[in-house]
Amino acid sequence: MQISVNGKIHNVDAGEETPLLWVLRDHLGLTGTKYGCGIGACGSCTVLLEDEPVRACLTLLGEVENKKITTIEGISPESNHPVQQAWEELQVPQCGYCQSGQIISAVALLSETDEPTDEDIDEMMSGILCRCGTYPRIREAIKLAARKISEQRTNQ
Ligand code: FES
Ligand code: FES
Repeated sequence: MQISVNGKIHNVDAGEETPLLWVLRDHLGLTGTKYGCGIGACGSCTVLLEDEPVRACLTLLGEVENKKITTIEGISPESNHPVQQAWEELQVPQCGYCQSGQIISAVALLSETDEPTDEDIDEMMSGILCRCGTYPRIREAIKLAARKISEQRTNQ
């Protein structure tokens, strides 16, 4: 089956019922997307499917044919998306395990909302669990990234 990941078409030899998470990690070697719970409860496997955040552990290969998938490896060519810059500036990660899911979800939020409120942030991010408790820094980093995106727009 052919799938489009991070702007490239891949031929994947796996059954339609294979979870996308295993396709990404085992077939394509994209290990930035993490396995946490495998039952849709932790959010560490979050990727973008047509710009919407989805849980890769619950999404089946058969559901993603001809759809655009973006993983943490694909959100910017130089790893310098404003969200990534803000994450680095504010030193958000602790152990880092949940952070690709957090960043992907933050990118999705900011693609829909220019100036997210605390409530917007909580609503989007509450499903991505962080055992290290980095939530306050995540909130600040999302606001910083929103300012960076708005500055980029004004400078264009
Ligand atoms: S591994 Fe997919 S939600 Fe936890
Ligand atoms: S940084 Fe450790 S789980 Fe979130």
